Amino acid sequence: MGFRKDFVWGAASSAYQVEGAADRDGKGDSIWDRYCREPGRILDGSDGSRACMHYDRYEEDVRHMAQMGLKAYRFSISWPRIYPEGTGAVNEKGLRFYSDLVDCLLAHGIEPWITLFHWDLPCALYERGGYLNPDFPGWFADYAGTVVKALSDRSTHFITFNEPQCFVGLGFLTGEHAPGLRMMLSDTFRMAHRVLLAHGRAVQSMRAAAAQPIQIGYAPTCGAAYPVGSSPEDVEAAKIGYFACPEDLSNWTWNVSWWSDPVLLGTYPEDGLRLYEPWLPHIGQDDLRLIHQPIDFYGQNIYNGTAYRAGRVPEAVRRYDGFPKTAAQWPVTPECLYWGPRFLYERYQTPIYITENGMSCHDTVSLDGKVHDPNRIDFLQRYLRELRRASEDGVDIRGYFQWSLTDNFEWARGYQERFGLIYVDFQTQERIWKDSAYWYQELIRSSGEIL
Ligand code: FCB
Repeated sequence: MGFRKDFVWGAASSAYQVEGAADRDGKGDSIWDRYCREPGRILDGSDGSRACMHYDRYEEDVRHMAQMGLKAYRFSISWPRIYPEGTGAVNEKGLRFYSDLVDCLLAHGIEPWITLFHWDLPCALYERGGYLNPDFPGWFADYAGTVVKALSDRSTHFITFNEPQCFVGLGFLTGEHAPGLRMMLSDTFRMAHRVLLAHGRAVQSMRAAAAQPIQIGYAPTCGAAYPVGSSPEDVEAAKIGYFACPEDLSNWTWNVSWWSDPVLLGTYPEDGLRLYEPWLPHIGQDDLRLIHQPIDFYGQNIYNGTAYRAGRVPEAVRRYDGFPKTAAQWPVTPECLYWGPRFLYERYQTPIYITENGMSCHDTVSLDGKVHDPNRIDFLQRYLRELRRASEDGVDIRGYFQWSLTDNFEWARGYQERFGLIYVDFQTQERIWKDSAYWYQELIRSSGEIL
């Protein structure tokens, strides 16, 4: 019992959050480069132009991964490094960086897991309408095909989109992330549909470009739902709550089913179609067939969840006063790693990887020169025990990627949040293993036994 023998223990990052070198070797601007230059956008006034300088220090970072025993490293490709203008001529130097990174990972026995899109849309495409442009799916499919053609002789795991909930919702509905707009609802639904079409087109172009059979996945997110007690009624209430489309239109993108049903079931959810009808774009006859390409795995980023109880309708339970939370004020709810995967697997019947999970803590270097983060170790222990329970109860759960390998640029919160297993001194770029990094190393070494 426990986790599968071939369970993938990994860690994750994304291009803009770690690479730095924002204008090196021909890279074009992404909407995040530009957004960070606008005064007042980032909490601490910082940006990702240096970040962890991973572009220059990737070999050192890969050595840390190898020492930690990681089986896989999930990273993303910066689209404007490959296509500075979003389309057109390939920037070979940009591709070269990722090719070298892949070689370095493989030389250390670490499997590269490549995300094509983790939010850094090329500015050039944004100026042409971005996700609203009917050409967006084609642009993305071309870019994805180029990357797969260049790297699939050595890498076999690719993910199309990371968290469309966030880059559409936070970017264009609430305006908290780049490009910081609040668009009309109908525009946001149109974007969402184009993003899903882009996913489908990309799956086709990636399969066509692949040098060998590849595994393709998708990495959306959402708060999970879990039952407050163990009664079947509460379980049912949580399940309904988890997959419901929000009635609150100001935050409609924050849901599971609108983003996953089309991809994995080939339909939009009924309740969403009803609720959102006045704002929906025309959905072409073949659109859902295109979106519903067979994929090999279902990634899910899960950080926390909400408890539900059965009532007249499923009721979200208010958290008690002083509920445990992380430095980012996110609730600590280990149950989400049991019920999330369980509900998702029941509905979608597709192998699951937790493509992100982790916490930010107020980490500091102590007088002894070390970084003690008992809260993170406790968090991971609680969450991973729940994940193990899901696996033991028959959920096809194949891997777990800790967010993140190193502290990094946490989007609108700048360097205020430290999510890493490895502490980064952003003045000197020194990396210091937190206690949790040693713990994760032990965990991997024991194949999860020390839980
Ligand atoms: C997720 C993002 C990731 C990181 C973590 C903390 O929503 O995918 O880039 O910011 O949250």
